[in-house]
Amino acid sequence: TPDVRPLVAGNWKMNGTRESLTEIKAMAEGVQGALSEKVDALICPPATLLYVATALSTDSPLMIGGQDCHQDASGAHTGDISAEMIADCFGTYVIVGHSERRTDHAETDHLVRAKAQAAHAADLTAIICVGETAGERDAYQTLEVLKRQIFNSVPETATAANTVIAYEPVWAIGTGVTPTADDVEIAHAFMRAELTACLGEEGRRMRILYGGSVKPGNARELMSVENVDGALIGGASLKANDFLAIYRVYE
Ligand code: G3P
Repeated sequence: TPDVRPLVAGNWKMNGTRESLTEIKAMAEGVQGALSEKVDALICPPATLLYVATALSTDSPLMIGGQDCHQDASGAHTGDISAEMIADCFGTYVIVGHSERRTDHAETDHLVRAKAQAAHAADLTAIICVGETAGERDAYQTLEVLKRQIFNSVPETATAANTVIAYEPVWAIGTGVTPTADDVEIAHAFMRAELTACLGEEGRRMRILYGGSVKPGNARELMSVENVDGALIGGASLKANDFLAIYRVYE
């Protein structure tokens, strides 16, 4: 999208121990330089590594974020993490509504919206994930699902600065299979139109990432599709070399 700064984001999911901090260090070093003037880079490690990860990247443009947050700011919610806690660890982003959360923890569109609002209240940028399942795709419901998820999960207070949308077709996650560039273009154009209809100029400039089996080998093609403003990378974000190779397709 013209005048939109791309974001290359990594989601480590339930992967990573202290040993993996060497990868974060290498990423923090690798994203320094001219490219960081025009492209944002973000890693979302597991919560156990959040605080150390931000400490390792204080002198780097690499940003650190959480993978989920509770919709409340604090309270009796054993095992959960609030957006405030992520901000307290100097995280600046949080992923909400990832399909694995929607499936494993039965998260609904409305809960995802509450989480995005909690993120905004803590001054975090929310990455709101949307995307159809294989069954929905086979039933030609992709655009309908995206419309419903955007309408119900994106708060009215969303701006281009505090919100990012990530389109992750569920069937493309961790499978090595990606949609064709044409399919990605259709989905992203549709989301752009929906966001602009709901949020006006903020929606026109809101970043829409593609996620699902993004690798160094296919990133250039996927990132050059119209209305694709970056990537949300799972498996290929665990190694600094792969993550940086994807980041550098913007060179
Ligand atoms: O959030 C990113 C993710 O769901 C994509 O995972 O491993 O297919 O890149 P992967």
